[in-house]
Amino acid sequence: MLNFTDNSRGSTLRITVAAAAIATIGFLGQPNGAAAQELDIEKIFFCPAGDMSEDACLVARDTTLITCTACHVFTPFVKAQKTEAEWDTFLEAHRSRVPETSDTDYVEIGKFLKSHFNPENPVPQLPPELENYSLPPA
Ligand code: HEC
Repeated sequence: MLNFTDNSRGSTLRITVAAAAIATIGFLGQPNGAAAQELDIEKIFFCPAGDMSEDACLVARDTTLITCTACHVFTPFVKAQKTEAEWDTFLEAHRSRVPETSDTDYVEIGKFLKSHFNPENPVPQLPPELENYSLPPA
């Protein structure tokens, strides 16, 4: 299980939202036992990562999951194997989607994405409900 109490910067609200997000993920995995086992949150969103400490990584993980699942599930970024330069281009283009996110938090989201979803790391397999997800129209 994710331990959100490690997140010293997280407000109660953020923790609640994250818990709800995780509960949803659990629910999506439920109909098929095998698929549920495929979704290993700790493996996909592992910490520590890159040059982030474990604590910084855990905070960035919360921020990413809360910020980046408001409009779509995490499939498009979990499946992405972008290089740092590709993430930078993406982050610049996607910045206007999250106007309420601070620049500091956005940098941390960037670090989290770059250290997990890149050409060096294998693409995680997701349950069919998430795997077959398609993006909302722009
Ligand atoms: C306000 C709604 C909204 C939020 C919040 C949002 N997205 Fe998106 N995202 C979209 C839409 C709409 C698309 C499909 C159209 C497009 O590509 O712009 C998309 C597409 C994507 C794609 C696929 C396109 C590509 O260029 O690779 C990725 C990856 C992605 N989002 C990641 C993220 C991440 C990471 C965050 C958190 C920083 C995030 N999204 C937050 C609306 C949003």
